[in-house]
Amino acid sequence: MTMTQPNLEGINLLAATWGRGEPHDQFDRLRAEAPVYWHPEVDDTGFWALTKHADVRAVSHDHQRFSAEVGGTFIPTSDEEALAQLRLTILNMDPPRHNHYRRLVSKGFTPRMIAALVEEIERRAVAVIDDVCERGEVEFVEEIAAQIPVQMICEMIGLEKEVWPRMFEISNQLIGSRDDPDFQEIPGGPEASAMEIYALCDAVAADRRINPREDIMTLLVQAEVDGERLNEFDLNMFFLTLVVAGNETTRNLINHSMLAIIENPDQAQRLRDDPSLWDTATDEMLRWGSSIHNFRRTATEDTEVRGVPIKQGDKVVLYYAAANRDEEVFVNPHSFDVGRTPNDHLAFGGGGVHYCLGASLARAEIRATMRQIVERLPDLELVGEPNRLHSDFVNGIKTMPVRFTPTAPSWKD
Ligand code: HEM
Repeated sequence: MTMTQPNLEGINLLAATWGRGEPHDQFDRLRAEAPVYWHPEVDDTGFWALTKHADVRAVSHDHQRFSAEVGGTFIPTSDEEALAQLRLTILNMDPPRHNHYRRLVSKGFTPRMIAALVEEIERRAVAVIDDVCERGEVEFVEEIAAQIPVQMICEMIGLEKEVWPRMFEISNQLIGSRDDPDFQEIPGGPEASAMEIYALCDAVAADRRINPREDIMTLLVQAEVDGERLNEFDLNMFFLTLVVAGNETTRNLINHSMLAIIENPDQAQRLRDDPSLWDTATDEMLRWGSSIHNFRRTATEDTEVRGVPIKQGDKVVLYYAAANRDEEVFVNPHSFDVGRTPNDHLAFGGGGVHYCLGASLARAEIRATMRQIVERLPDLELVGEPNRLHSDFVNGIKTMPVRFTPTAPSWKD
């Protein structure tokens, strides 16, 4: 552990902070005063908090000196805890093993594969708004934002419709149970949720071995790494990663995009006036909402970032939302501009081997859902305060009641 600077007063990036929203005041100070900041944790431990765009990008590309496998990718106080939480998913593997495993699923998520799904995503987005538009008041998170991400990832994996709502609940429980009091009373805790998801995975895998289909589960049961079929554990890890990553991130990005649209009605009007702005708008929503706060790496040797010495074994945490407001990269970083270009945001990670596998899928889902809302529910507004998730990992909103002028579904046009 290295300590080369005093604590900055008022800086606290641990879980409790996040229940109040992104701490952009803290990020602004850190980028200006201590862009490579030793952040204390409990028990005299700590981690390096990186808040500059260039540093997040450089570390993301340097998997040799900054490993995702050595200590896991979450911050928690002990490595045992981190590894127990999410052990050896592709997120926690370094090359060369990472390449073998990622290759197995990457062909299901290429821009070309997703382009073929765009019509389907748009059709589903129309149906989501059709289902709620006559009511005038809904709970936005579950009834709108969650819908397309859960439907698409479950469909792509090959899960039957009956289990889709349960996948939404389980993925919430797995993420929420780390720090949020609302999720800590669940019988059996996160272990029970994980066991339920593994059991479902085992059942679907068993079926696809006998009845192959055009889905990711079939791809996985037929896949081989080094001449061997994936074992049950590998299958469970893939399944869990895809369900959680496919759900939590995009749903919350849609929540934050909705807040941005409500707070910036002039930007919503720009989109209604000029729909050709939807490409740049989608990237601006990603920059703005940054639904993953951070991922962690561990230094594999004594090294440095921006001249600050980092010791072998130190935790290095990449704050994507901070990088996405870096004034050296973005003009007026704290303004939401649907026409922003260029927009080199790091919402999907800083590049390198772990760059988000679901980026094209997420873009298509965000664009389709937000476009339906902006065009068909133009006066949508909050009824109460958004209820934010306490998590130092996912930038989550648990509930967000909204209202709008009721309107007819598309099929009545
Ligand atoms: C707005 C939506 C999303 C955001 C903000 C997001 C963000 C991220 C980030 C920050 C990373 C880690 C990058 C790194 O460590 O360098 C990542 C990795 C990943 N994401 Fe996403 N993601 C989103 C949507 C999705 C979706 C829809 C899927 C569906 C499959 C997905 C699957 C994955 C997977 C499997 C990885 C691990 C890739 C690897 O380790 O090789 N993500 N994502």
